[in-house]
Amino acid sequence: MVRLRVLTKNDWPLWREVRLAALGEAPQAFKARLAHWHSGGEERWRARLEMPDAYNIIALLGGRTVAMASGLAGGSGAYELRSVWVSPQARGRGVGDRLIEAVETWALQSGATTLKLAVIPGNEPAIALYQRNGFVVAGDLGDLLSDGVTRERVMVKALR
Ligand SMILES: CC(C)(COP(=O)(O)OP(=O)(O)OC[C@H]1O[C@@H](n2cnc3c(N)ncnc32)[C@H](O)[C@@H]1OP(=O)(O)O)[C@@H](O)C(=O)NCCC(=O)NCCS
Repeated sequence: MVRLRVLTKNDWPLWREVRLAALGEAPQAFKARLAHWHSGGEERWRARLEMPDAYNIIALLGGRTVAMASGLAGGSGAYELRSVWVSPQARGRGVGDRLIEAVETWALQSGATTLKLAVIPGNEPAIALYQRNGFVVAGDLGDLLSDGVTRERVMVKALR
């Protein structure tokens, strides 16, 4: 059975473990780079979990951490969904849906009106997951990727 756990700032070693696993397993899916985060010490990881108005969750399957996601508050009720990852062994069981549902619930309770995310074009499993959960492609221009040509695709969901 998959269980979700909300992290507190003292959970930074757990956060580091799952974040490094995600960046190592699916580097093509994230703008952040493994080498970049490997160089960060405790302070850096703590700072990430101490960000105000943030919600960080992991999913556990048989006692092992198998997935993660974050929510971040933004101005004018526009919140962000970030760092979604499900380990290959846990995919296809609805864990991504559970993570998104939890971030949405937190965002709604915190006053969000929309939830946004950015996905790298071509990441079909992620795009399918987001579409299934009610996200649509937004008009906003996403960040430029390291090739200097491709941009992230911004997707959005109205929460109320
Ligand atoms: C995107 C992601 C979170 C989806 O995980 P999930 O919610 O468990 O996957 P789903 O339930 O949507 O899987 C649906 C199907 O696609 C398959 N699938 C999921 N992710 C896949 C992947 N990356 N590659 C190939 N197949 C994948 C599943 O096995 C499942 O197949 P089934 O229906 O035959 O059982 C996961 O693929 C992942 O962590 N990918 C790498 C990181 C990433 O892309 N994060 C998003 C950044 S924006």
